[in-house]
Amino acid sequence: MTQSVGIARAHTNIALIKYWGKRDKELFLPMNSSLSLTLDAFYTDTKVVFDTAFTEDRFILNGLEQDEKEIRKISRFLDLFREYIGEDRFAVVESLNFVPTAAGLASSASAFAALALATATALNIDLSRQALSSFARRGSGSSTRSLFGGFVEWDMGTCSEDSLARPIDEADWDIGMLVIAVDKAKKKVASREGMDLTVATSPFYQAWVETAAQDLAAIKEAIAERDFEKLGRLTEHNGMKMHATTLSANPPFTYWSAASVRAQEAVRQVREESGLAAYMTMDAGPNVKVLCRASQMEELKRELSVLLPEFQLIESLPGQGASQLTEEEWQQSHSRFQKEVGYEG
Ligand code: DP6
Repeated sequence: MTQSVGIARAHTNIALIKYWGKRDKELFLPMNSSLSLTLDAFYTDTKVVFDTAFTEDRFILNGLEQDEKEIRKISRFLDLFREYIGEDRFAVVESLNFVPTAAGLASSASAFAALALATATALNIDLSRQALSSFARRGSGSSTRSLFGGFVEWDMGTCSEDSLARPIDEADWDIGMLVIAVDKAKKKVASREGMDLTVATSPFYQAWVETAAQDLAAIKEAIAERDFEKLGRLTEHNGMKMHATTLSANPPFTYWSAASVRAQEAVRQVREESGLAAYMTMDAGPNVKVLCRASQMEELKRELSVLLPEFQLIESLPGQGASQLTEEEWQQSHSRFQKEVGYEG
């Protein structure tokens, strides 16, 4: 066949128990298992076309042709699939990131999950979702979890084949997440470099690994019991511990800005004064994500916007796992992107 096409959508995810550190950088094997919530508000749509007529790989992101460095990352990822089935055609990869620019969430998680599903579809590779998640992992660790919807666990595994994701719960029980977009600037220390430096230099790192395992077991209990307070407290504590390891790295660094700390204080204040269920977590950037009750999201948003009038607050509900798109849906996706996000440049 001269041409084969695959199109897929994957949503981003926010870790409640963080992945922080690799035991094998080449294979993207993590130091600890993690657990996330997939979000419906942020996603990536990707189309992959393999053709005998192509003489090189190309990558077009949000309408912009990408440079060699970006193409190399994509090519290396496509090679995993090409090598798996002995494919030698080049590909054109086109992606649209549906992430409000201010959210600063332009995440590799949805990107590599969508690319994994689109590529497997184009090449007609019959893999289970779990096996596909272990391919996605090789693009970016957090994308392992974006193949599935709701609460998802990424089991650290013992080797490349069994370090994969599994769905834990659909999160269809009054769960929401509010993103406080304090800063849209690109992160100063990429998560990859940040976690490597932490593993290598933080004297607290071992404690992180040990307690992350305990947190994971406890949060799975909280989910099984549908105990929101327990879920929230564990989320907040685990996130803070991750950030404590960056402060103890050498040289020390932090992803927090002054605005992040203000946002954190606002979340605590609203929780204490209005009794709303709201628990925060942060990733490798300054934005604060608030785990909340979907039924209280509007009220929480109102309260927080009084304390933080200058920041955009973006609501999300739990999202679905990755799915294939038709050519017609892809065309619609382009029109929506033009209308809602707009092409860069
Ligand atoms: C803080 O998945 O971006 O968001 O595997 O090196 O691509 P690489 O890192 P990445 O790291 C995510 C770190 C985190 C926590 C998490 O999502 O679990």
